[in-house]
This record gives sequence, C-alpha cells and structure tokens, in this order.
Amino acid sequence: MGTRLQGKVAVITGGGGGIGAAAGRIFCEEGARVALVDQSEDAVASAVHEIRQILPGAEVHGHVADLGVEAEADRVIGDVVARLGGVDVLVNNVGIRRYEALADAPWETWDAIIRVNLLSFVSMTRAALPHLRRCGRGSIVNTSSTYAVYGRKGMGAYDATKAGVLAMTRTLAYEEGEHGVRANAVCPGYTRTPFHVRRMGAQAVDELVPPCVLKRWADPSEMAYPMLWLASDEASYVTGATFMIDGGLPA
Ligand SMILES: NC(=O)c1ccc[n+]([C@@H]2O[C@H](COP(=O)([O-])OP(=O)(O)OC[C@H]3O[C@@H](n4cnc5c(N)ncnc54)[C@H](O)[C@@H]3O)[C@@H](O)[C@H]2O)c1
Repeated sequence: MGTRLQGKVAVITGGGGGIGAAAGRIFCEEGARVALVDQSEDAVASAVHEIRQILPGAEVHGHVADLGVEAEADRVIGDVVARLGGVDVLVNNVGIRRYEALADAPWETWDAIIRVNLLSFVSMTRAALPHLRRCGRGSIVNTSSTYAVYGRKGMGAYDATKAGVLAMTRTLAYEEGEHGVRANAVCPGYTRTPFHVRRMGAQAVDELVPPCVLKRWADPSEMAYPMLWLASDEASYVTGATFMIDGGLPA
C-alpha cells in the first residue's frame, strides 16, 4: 500500500465502469477512502467486491445513482460526507456514448448525452465544491476524450459534450483557484474497457490497432495513474490543464 492519497476521500463517478473501477482500486492502493458512484447496481457492487478482494481492508463504498438526474448529486455527496466526513477529490468520469452522425442524431440523443456527460459533471461539482473548498487542497479530475480535441465522424454529440468538459474544467480552475481547489481534465484515447469488449467483441477489440504512436489499446489502469497524480498533492501546481492520455494520437 502506498500513501499518495493518504487521508483523502475520493468520489469517482462511473465507478462501476472500466476506467472508474481502475481508478477506485489504484486510489485505494494509495490510501484513499473511495466512493464509487454508478447507475448500475451490479457494476458498482462488483467493482467494490473486486477491490476488497485485492486489497483487504480497503475503505471503498458503492453508491447507486442515476447522475442524469440533478438531485442525485446532492443525495450522493450528502451520503459520502455523512459516512466519510468530507470530499477531497472528485473524479467526474461517468460517460455514455451514442454512435450517430449529426445528420441523424435526434434531440433525444443530445438530451440524454448532455445530461450524463456534461450536466452530471455540473451537479456533482456544485454539490462537492463546499467540501472541496473546506479541505483546502481539493482536486477535481474530469474525464474528457481525445475526440474533444480531434475531429472524426460518427459521435458528434458525444464529442461535443467532451469538448464542453474541457471548457468547464478551465473555467473551474480560474474560479476555484482562490479557494484552494484545482481542476484538470484527462483525455483518454482507445482504452480497453469492458464497455468496448461488450460492444465489439473481444476478438474485434484485439484486432483493431488504434491509430496512435503506441499502436495498442490502453489498459484502464493507464488512465487511472494520471488521475491518481492529478488527485494527489504531487500535482499541487497543476490546474486548468488538459492531459492527452492517448498513446500519441493522431499518429
Ligand atoms: N474507454 C475508452 O476508450 C474511452 C475513451 C475516451 C474517453 N472515455 C471516457 O472515459 C470515461 C469512462 O469510460 P469507460 O470506458 O470506463 O466507460 P464504461 O462504460 O465502462 O463506464 C461508464 C460507467 O458509467 C455508468 N453510467 C452510465 N450512465 C450513468 C448514469 N446516468 N448515472 C450513473 N452512472 C452511469 C455505467 O453504468 C458505467 O459503469 C467515460 O467518460 C468515457 O466517455 C473512454
């Protein structure tokens, strides 16, 4: 066990998914007490179970919530503070995808994806900020995507929300610096999470060579380690930054 997040309470949304669960494990390994938040009861329960198996004694808890509903953020943060006493780190990582060209994407696609990928970041941040400010060294890590920055076809609504996440992160950094809260964004590239394995099938994932310098998919832990650093006091002079964690896209 390390100590890089010793004494800190971290809330991770999308905590039942590939990147969120990996961050939960690595944060626990470094001494954090962790709340994983996810809509899927099964996914969050299995992430918590796995972390406790690997790290007996880890303090990790699951919270089930649909973060596309504004009021859920206050409820979740209230529960975390009641149980763990505060919030030092917020990782806004929840995300959904829609595979539609802009010409075809109905209003419902935009509405659903904006609620989860952008508005949940807003509601969770607003709910957590009083606690992040109070702790004196709060850190927000927002998960965006390389395609917030680069163009492509087919996921325009998703990419627009991810670009919104970068703008929101920069503004947060400006507004919250004086309150001791840092805000940064990570932009994952091709990451081999269960989502993609379910969507494409394991063989198709293995056969697809991502168009990046490293020519391979990332393991979710390769997203979680940069998140760990940004969450920790090691990154105390880093705010408003966008980190491309993409194996060198576009190659
Ligand atoms: N995997 C990649 O290649 C990749 C690339 C770029 C960006 N990202 C981003 O990284 C983040 C995590 O990706 P992942 O691959 O681990 O995703 P994932 O699909 O494995 O995990 C997302 C989790 O969010 C949960 N969720 C969905 N809607 C929710 C809601 N309304 N309320 C609460 N929870 C909800 C899901 O149940 C799931 O467990 C996402 O924001 C994604 O957009 C991933």
